Amino acid sequence: MIWMIGSWLIFLAILLQLSFDLIEEWLSNNKSVVDSLLLGRVADGGLSIGDIANYQPWDGLMELKVAMADFMRQAMGEKVSFDPSRLVLTAGATPAIEILSFCLADQGNAFLIPTPYYPGFDRDVKWRAGVELVPVHCRSSENFVPSIPAFEQAFNQARKRGQKVRGILISNPSNPVGNILSREMLYGLLSFAREKNIHIISDEIFAGSTYGDDEFVSMAEIRDAEDFDKDRVHIVYGLSKDLSLPGFRVGVIYSLNENVLAASQKLTRFSAISTPTQKLLVSMLSDSRFIQDYLQTNKQRLRAIHDLFVVGLEQLGIESTKSSSGFYCWVNLSRFVSPYNEKGELELWEKLLSTAKINVTPGSACHCIEPGWFRCCFATLDEKDVAVVINRIQKVLETCKPPS
Ligand SMILES: Cc1ncc(COP(=O)(O)O)c(C=O)c1O
Ligand SMILES: *[C@@H]1O[C@H](CO)[C@@H](O)[C@H](O)[C@H]1NC(C)=O
Ligand SMILES: *[C@@H]1O[C@H](CO)[C@@H](O)[C@H](O)[C@H]1NC(C)=O
Repeated sequence: MIWMIGSWLIFLAILLQLSFDLIEEWLSNNKSVVDSLLLGRVADGGLSIGDIANYQPWDGLMELKVAMADFMRQAMGEKVSFDPSRLVLTAGATPAIEILSFCLADQGNAFLIPTPYYPGFDRDVKWRAGVELVPVHCRSSENFVPSIPAFEQAFNQARKRGQKVRGILISNPSNPVGNILSREMLYGLLSFAREKNIHIISDEIFAGSTYGDDEFVSMAEIRDAEDFDKDRVHIVYGLSKDLSLPGFRVGVIYSLNENVLAASQKLTRFSAISTPTQKLLVSMLSDSRFIQDYLQTNKQRLRAIHDLFVVGLEQLGIESTKSSSGFYCWVNLSRFVSPYNEKGELELWEKLLSTAKINVTPGSACHCIEPGWFRCCFATLDEKDVAVVINRIQKVLETCKPPS
């Protein structure tokens, strides 16, 4: 539930239970696989204790890379294929992003990043790799879609400050907004990166969680369509969102850059996935019927709960930015924010949390430049929860009289 979880964990307040039942069902139908992994028994698949207890390659088992490449192709709509030998597996997307930061930048260098952005990026690139993030501000008047002139401006300003910009970091589909970058935008970004001789990290962890009419295009597809510059695009992916398995800790770096691949492989020594987890996932991902059904059902459920939630908000006269992917709505509560600044925004956040027990993410945590926007996660709700949530939001908002 979005209300009730550890009150201060605003960045982490996401339980991904929308399709847990499907995973549970698979596990209970595949007990022999699970038993053999957890107990080290030789089961139908012929696994031995040595298969799971020994050291294995740090960057992932080849059999899981093959299964993962196939899963990525399905999640991304069959339009792009992934070469398993160019995949590096990590313990979640988080270390994948950090590893790329180490590979592409020195301490004190910077990445450009469109705002609002996923708050975890600050941790992932800054804490240990020491990379700075230069915001490229997106506005509500443009539906929070970034523009190349804004990138240009941020790049030039960073240079004037003496910062060396090494790359662009995007989340596409976007967390928090839930929109998808158009093919034209992706081509624009690639030419911008080429012109400035910088890299692109495209975090596509929500690629399989699309439910709207907009077509998702992977940056990998754009790169493959070009004859040159295949070296500067790096895809981040993982199973935390599209397969609702954040606790399994599975992430991916996909790159055609040999230097980046070689360095990443070495760095996975610090973030390898445990072998029992990998073996279990090989079985699960190879069950193509299950995967197909899962992806399809999960999308249908996301769409249904998204539509219900957005309509509920609309009935209160509250608008959200049009979204077509992910677990969130990006909601405009600016008329209830007073004073109209970050302080007022945090006051409303606090009120929603303490009075209604509803935990949303204030836009300022996502570095949004306009006060009054909030990220609401709907992926943990079921249909009957929605009415309760909307009702609680309404009660709080009634106490925040918009200035007339
Ligand atoms: C855009 C984005 N990237 C990365 C992550 C982290 O993923 P993982 O749990 O695989 O480390 C998240 C999780 O919220 C996310 O939203
Ligand atoms: C694993 O579970 C799936 C889906 O629940 C089922 O179709 C499949 O037959 C099971 N596999 C085995 C080996 O039991
Ligand atoms: C957000 O809400 C404010 C206050 O109601 C309104 O003035 C503004 O136009 C809204 N923005 C968008 C993009 O809908």
